[in-house]
Amino acid sequence: MSYFRDNIEKLKVYEPGFQPKSIDVIKLNTNENPYPPSPAVLRAIREVQPEQLRRYPDPMGNIFREEAAKINGVEPDWILCCNGGDELLKMAFTAFCDRRRPVAYPVPTYSLYPVLANIQNCRAVEVPFDKEFNLPARLARSRSALTIVCNPNAPSGTFIQPEELASLAAEVKGVLLIDEAYVDFAERNCVELVRQFDNVIILRSLSKGYSLAGLRFGYAIARPEMINGLLKVKDSYNADAISIAAATAAVKDREYFKRNIEMVKQERSRLTEQLRGLGFDMPESSSNFIFVEHKTLKAKDIYSKLVQQNIYVRYWDLTGIDNKLRISVGTPQQNDMLLSALKEMDAA
Ligand SMILES: Cc1ncc(COP(=O)(O)O)c(C=O)c1O
Repeated sequence: MSYFRDNIEKLKVYEPGFQPKSIDVIKLNTNENPYPPSPAVLRAIREVQPEQLRRYPDPMGNIFREEAAKINGVEPDWILCCNGGDELLKMAFTAFCDRRRPVAYPVPTYSLYPVLANIQNCRAVEVPFDKEFNLPARLARSRSALTIVCNPNAPSGTFIQPEELASLAAEVKGVLLIDEAYVDFAERNCVELVRQFDNVIILRSLSKGYSLAGLRFGYAIARPEMINGLLKVKDSYNADAISIAAATAAVKDREYFKRNIEMVKQERSRLTEQLRGLGFDMPESSSNFIFVEHKTLKAKDIYSKLVQQNIYVRYWDLTGIDNKLRISVGTPQQNDMLLSALKEMDAA
């Protein structure tokens, strides 16, 4: 007899990318930003007062809401702070899904969605993307309580234009959550859709564009009625005092943010071009990673050979994507080391 609910007993857990212990490796496997966070973030953390730690934090993180509202052109009550974007996903499953209220999303995509569906014990309608990662027409017709579109999508890095997602928002029966964890590296975003539609929630993360994966901070943008509904399932103090202070400093430093994003995008272009020259195919990336397939070499072999040289990229032994690698954009030096390791393989 198990103490656990059936679906927890049988759960296939989410497998985060490998986190090597040594810092002496080239780690291009978990889409972290290769550059450090803004110095203003570290200052804000140092300036946290003992009194801020003795007391519970502001349950709503209002200082952050004000800054996030400014950069997104909405009011602070359209923002909800979360302990990483992952917490918002969990809140959405809790609030909208159950045995009779399924979730739908195109695949392949972020592998946490099916895990959350299993925990919530709701059916997951997985609609395959075509080869070009276009939005599948069938998605709108699934009549699910929650539809999730990851945009830019992981692991493909591809981007669906806001106009197409506006049509989807109008067509779906339930809520449309647009997971914009990587949107800082794209040319456009879907924030306008929350003005037009009362069923749209935008997810944002500070883990990628702001180099703060270790902080655990993300937020939702949606109409106040939607935010108030989500609040019912939020942990009272989901964001702690240190992370609220640090995240606020991060979004305030616009100059640093823009430079950081620009550097990643420049390296993304260079890496894309060089990888193409080495015989890799990939869709155009709007993210901080590239999803590649080699014309002749097997992804699994490339992955293993790179590991031998302490270079980590992401490989999944899963049907449909088992001959692809997802490579996070690193610093110019890291990318050069990756490229020279790949060149040697190509020549061998
Ligand atoms: C597609 C996608 N959405 C959401 C998240 C959650 O980000 P975080 O919880 O670090 O803010 C991630 C993290 O890797 C992701 O890849």
